[in-house]
Amino acid sequence: MSTKSEFASKFGLVAATVGSAVGLGNVWRFPAEAQSNGGSAFLLLYILCVLFLGIPVMLAEFSLGRGSKSDAIGSFLHFSPGKKWWIVGALSVLASYLIMSYYMVVAGWTLEYLVESIGGGLYEGTAGIGHEELRGVFSAKMDEYISSPVRPVIYTLLLIAINIGILLGGVQKGIERLSNVMMPLLFVILAVMCVVSLMLPNAGEGVKYFLAPDFSKINASTVINALGQAFFSLSLGMGILITFASYYPRDTRLTRTSVTVAMASLLVAVMVGLIIFPAIKSFGLDNEPLEGATLVFVTLPEIFVRLPLAQLWSALFFILLFVAALTSSVSIAEVSIATVQDRLKWSRRTATLAMLLPLTVISTLCALSFSDLSSVKIFGLTIFDFLDRFTTDILLPLVSLGVCIYVGWFAPRNLLRDQLTNEGTLHSPMSRVFLLIIRYIAPLLIAMIFINNYL
Ligand code: PHE
Repeated sequence: MSTKSEFASKFGLVAATVGSAVGLGNVWRFPAEAQSNGGSAFLLLYILCVLFLGIPVMLAEFSLGRGSKSDAIGSFLHFSPGKKWWIVGALSVLASYLIMSYYMVVAGWTLEYLVESIGGGLYEGTAGIGHEELRGVFSAKMDEYISSPVRPVIYTLLLIAINIGILLGGVQKGIERLSNVMMPLLFVILAVMCVVSLMLPNAGEGVKYFLAPDFSKINASTVINALGQAFFSLSLGMGILITFASYYPRDTRLTRTSVTVAMASLLVAVMVGLIIFPAIKSFGLDNEPLEGATLVFVTLPEIFVRLPLAQLWSALFFILLFVAALTSSVSIAEVSIATVQDRLKWSRRTATLAMLLPLTVISTLCALSFSDLSSVKIFGLTIFDFLDRFTTDILLPLVSLGVCIYVGWFAPRNLLRDQLTNEGTLHSPMSRVFLLIIRYIAPLLIAMIFINNYL
């Protein structure tokens, strides 16, 4: 297909893929998981999972996409026409669409907090208040920002509009251009905030908690949580990596790209840990639960308000969070857009609008599940929680399992090797090891995630 879009530069393709991988999973899921699974021990397991399982599975997705130069469903049809394997691709499109529906809401909150940090609304009424009362103040603000029926909906719609604006630009002028600017910005902010946090009194205690391994904390469920976190944070099982790799030129070195993306994602998780753990130890907030939303929307503002230049740090942090969320949201939206563009031969414009406009309804329902629709339950869960659980617990592991079994056993025999060696022009000593992992080890461990979820 000569009209197939491609990324314009190596930097751009890495930035876009890193932009997808580095999202709220790194910034708010990781510290929470690390805290409840024994800090450093979890970090170690997470690193092992990323290196030994994440990278091979990422390469399986890359090979499908770059080998076929097609969308998440088309890749399977390309290699196995007339077979049912495309269903794995269809499940990834479904997963990506459902995740996108609630991710827009969360991304909306990050923008809301950014606006409120800059405007000062977040810190209104905190002057002269005792430290013990701050938590109550910020919890009440979180209720106001997230659980009211109007504001979060407005921000969700705004996020959808921003996504449409970027995605109409296409791969090079939309996604790549955004990532080229946003990713360097993200790393600069992370570095600045690391320095600030590490200079706080008693920061060393937090670093020790985060980095000194305590092996007694490792057990079967820590391993499984680390694996789930590794897969989510590398954007596996969502069709994103298949879709993005279809925009990689034929001479892109897939192994090198996967290692770079994995390292960047690990680096962000470690830097976030080095910002959060020293800060909470330093202010004695380490007994508060770091559960996702509360960590970033309550605990962190509690810290910022005690620092000189509170609003500056707060704004910087929420820019970071917003950038992480935005680059991930465009990547996940691209999955379904590319699919209808390729399958139905729709124009970029029609495909983008057809996929994103329905979100104005679906995501609004998700946003309202914290307020007016909080009593609407699916299997006992709110709409938002149901979509989150159904995708992360069921669809994502199912797709990753399908990808491994397909690439390991049923795809054309040399697919992986040909893609890793760029059709024999590169040396790829590791490709046998990767194949072994994709065939045997990854499917077994992913099956364990499933079993664990249902026991
Ligand atoms: N790796 C991403 C993250 O950490 C996963 C993701 C990508 C989620 C795109 C949603 C959308 O947030």
